[in-house]
Amino acid sequence: MSKSNTIKLLAIETSCDETAVAVLQGSLPASFPKFKILSSVVKSQIDIHRKTGGVVPEVAARAHMQNILPVTEMALKKANLNLKAMDYIAVTSGPGLVVALVIGTEFAKGLSLATDKPLIPTNHMAGHLYSAFAQSPEKIQFPVLSIIVSGGHTMLVLMKDYKSYKVIGQTVDDAAGEAFDKVARLLKLPYPGGPEISKLAKLGKNDFNFPRPMMKEANFKFSFSGLKTAVLYHLQKHQAVNARLSKQAKADIAMSFENAVVDVLVTKAFRAVNKFGCKTVALSGGVAANQKLRESLAKASAEHEIAFTVPEMELCTDNAEMIAIAAYFRLFNKEKLIPTSKVKADPSWEIL
Ligand code: KG4
Ligand code: ZN
Repeated sequence: MSKSNTIKLLAIETSCDETAVAVLQGSLPASFPKFKILSSVVKSQIDIHRKTGGVVPEVAARAHMQNILPVTEMALKKANLNLKAMDYIAVTSGPGLVVALVIGTEFAKGLSLATDKPLIPTNHMAGHLYSAFAQSPEKIQFPVLSIIVSGGHTMLVLMKDYKSYKVIGQTVDDAAGEAFDKVARLLKLPYPGGPEISKLAKLGKNDFNFPRPMMKEANFKFSFSGLKTAVLYHLQKHQAVNARLSKQAKADIAMSFENAVVDVLVTKAFRAVNKFGCKTVALSGGVAANQKLRESLAKASAEHEIAFTVPEMELCTDNAEMIAIAAYFRLFNKEKLIPTSKVKADPSWEIL
């Protein structure tokens, strides 16, 4: 760590289909978290994966291989710094696609060993979790109920302070983002489906009142695969599976589906808020880019007279800024780091 109490770290993210690198500057040790992002570069692979309607892991890995060095160089250039100026290297080492994770992890290990800077293996879900603290982290009121909704996960996390968190419920089958993507495929919309459904839903008029799985159950579990099946049955009933649907018909289904997902998420989240006396609701993950969900949680939080925080749109879907922030919090929380040579990509690394 440099003497000035200011550290700089380079963070790398390659867990799925974005090659991303960010540079963060932060204060350490500190009583309250204080940091700023000096640069953040994301090279998306959406155009490549659109052709196959989803991510083909080996194709993603090859693109990460091609992009990782130029993206790292660009992030350093934008921050006006070189590698030597970094105090730490951070990397997403799980969860995610193993062939994608190893590219970032082994590249970061190389940088760490070559420059003799400590490596901070960082959990991708912790990245989403802490992304909600990107603005004014020192003002966060605990306990926090964190809702993480991504393509691979849907979870409610209870945070007692900056360090202690516990997963209190998750999906038993599909993640919310996965359901958005599958319903989009049923409606023959391009990949990734979430933003497409979101856009179409704004034009919807008829609400088909799709089921709200597990919404009334007194637990914090979610299930979204039945909802996707309800959309399929709706299409079959109206002989619309292979037929060309009008834009309005698709918009009505998109809105009805989105309403059901949002209803379940908001209801379950506020069951937890009430049970644990939370003072803040924090939303994150790719599905947090959904406007209806953002607005509904903001409204419910205002009604409950508690704070609501959600990252800017670009910070919801995968990026390295959130990995830099989560890595900064590992240091802020004085977590012990393992030697670089022991760091391994772990595709099933769950946060607790
Ligand atoms: O967090 P993320 O970028 O990747 C994972 O860690 O999984 O989340 C990607 C997911 C995809 O399923 C995508 O369809 C969904 O987030 N998504 C959205 C929106 N934007 C992205 N879902 C609903 N509405 C959106 N506006
Ligand atoms: Zn993610």
